[in-house]
Order: sequence, then structure tokens, then C-alpha cells
Amino acid sequence: MQIFYGKAALMDYLSTLKTTNSSIGFVPTMGALHEGHQSLMLQSTKENDITVVSIFVNPTQFNNPEDLEKYPRTLDADIIKISNINPNIIAFAPTVHDMYEGKTLSQPFDFDGLENKMEGKFRPGHFDGVGTIVKRLFEIVKPTRAYFGEKDFQQVQIIKKMVEKNHLQVTIVVCPIHREINNLAMSSRNERLTLHEREEAGIIYKILNGAKAKFSNNSAEKTTQWVKNQFKKNKIFTLEYFEIADEKTLTTCKRKSKNKKYRAFIAVFVNNIRLIDTISLN
Ligand code: PAF
Repeated sequence: MQIFYGKAALMDYLSTLKTTNSSIGFVPTMGALHEGHQSLMLQSTKENDITVVSIFVNPTQFNNPEDLEKYPRTLDADIIKISNINPNIIAFAPTVHDMYEGKTLSQPFDFDGLENKMEGKFRPGHFDGVGTIVKRLFEIVKPTRAYFGEKDFQQVQIIKKMVEKNHLQVTIVVCPIHREINNLAMSSRNERLTLHEREEAGIIYKILNGAKAKFSNNSAEKTTQWVKNQFKKNKIFTLEYFEIADEKTLTTCKRKSKNKKYRAFIAVFVNNIRLIDTISLN
């Protein structure tokens, strides 16, 4: 299996490998790979001639230094997982210096306001960091298709907006959320939970499903209040936000409209670890 630690070597290699018609599938990750990532890689290998997976814990998208410091880093295990999926997958695990050339700063982006809602509101600067690194990775890998998980629904909308605004020649492919046995959405951060917290975290999806049922014959306001009450009763998880929003614009739903598609978004804390999830309400 080929692993590259620097962008110049990867770009050289891809230029020798790529013929005029070959397609490149790209799966950007921050490592600590789980089944969700594995499904993105599998789909990419089915749909493309070449698949590149990046493993890079991007410092500029972390607004909380403790979260960055404690983010799981499991490169050796990740490489084994990738090569078990398909030894032809190319791994790219650059250093911060290689990606940022001495200036670990993000560039400001205008995502037409998508960046100020939910994750953007609670994690200032987060989407500038995501935009900076994803754009840089796209410039290096030059993918035909790039694969992202639906769990980070807002991130996907932001990346689609970046692609549209910068006229990038890449198709964004969105893949379904993978869940653990108790329906906790798979996330690299789950590795930081204790066994007990991980088992109890099934409550997040249970409440999301409850919210979906409530929203079918109640207003967004009533549904939101119901969710808040559920978390008030819970001793382990603290709700950061619950929001029902228009899937396209991510605008908060004030009054339901039959022509719109809605989605619920949630962020909760357990022991300083932040978990997010989402569910379609239509
Ligand atoms: O979703 C992630 O893991 C990260 O935000 C991404 C897209 C790899 C950018 O660092």
C-alpha cells in the first residue's frame, strides 16, 4: 500500500498514475477510522479508478484546544484498516507544516450565511478551518468525486457551497450515517467515551426519533421544547443545541411549510466530549 507524508510526493505520484480518462475518488478524514469511513472508501473504490484517503487532524477547525489535543490519533491502525479494505487505496497523512507551510491559519470564507448557524454559531471559525483544508486537499488530490458522511450535514452543505462558488470540478457524494448497535452515530470522538457513556449515548438517536414523531403533528417550537425537557431529565448528557431547520438553507423552522424538507440537528456534551447527530424529518 502506498502512503505519502508530503503533498509534493503525492502530487508527483498521482500525475504518473492518472491517465486522461482515469477518475480519482477522495475520502478526506481526520483518522481514527470507523465503519462510516470504511463505507466511504468502499463506495469510492467502486466508483473510481484511483482512491485517495487523507488522514489529517486539521488544527484550524478546532475552536477548543482540549478537543484538538485529545482527538484520537491512530495512524498505524488506520493504515491497516485501509489496506484491509483495498491495498490499492493511497493514503495521505501529511504534517501540519506540510499543509500550512509555517502559517497555521485559516482563510475567511463566505458560505452565504450557512457558516453562522448551528455548528458555526457554537464553534466560531470552525467552517473557515474546514473550508481552508478541504480546498487545499482538493487542490492537491484533484478528485473527480469526494465522499462525505451525512452525519456532518452542515459541513456537507458548506463544502457544496465552496465547490459551487469556486467552480471546482468535483462531485460531492454524500453517504448515509453509520450507527453503532445502540444507534449512536459513528464518530472518531466515540473512542473517547467510557463504555458506560457509549452505551448510554444511544439516547441521542432515541430522542431524535422521538422528535421526528412529535414534529409530524406539532410545531418546531413544541418539538424543540420536548427535546429540551428530555435532556433536563438526563444526568449524563447536556444539550448544547437542538434545531429544526430547512435542509437546503439551514434556516430555523419557525412555521412549517408543506413544500420544504426539514431536518433536526443536535449537539450534546458528555464529560467535555461533543457529539452531533441529525435526522431527516420528512
Ligand atoms: O469531517 C471531517 O473529518 C473533517 O472535517 C474533514 C472533512 C476531514 C476536514 O478536516
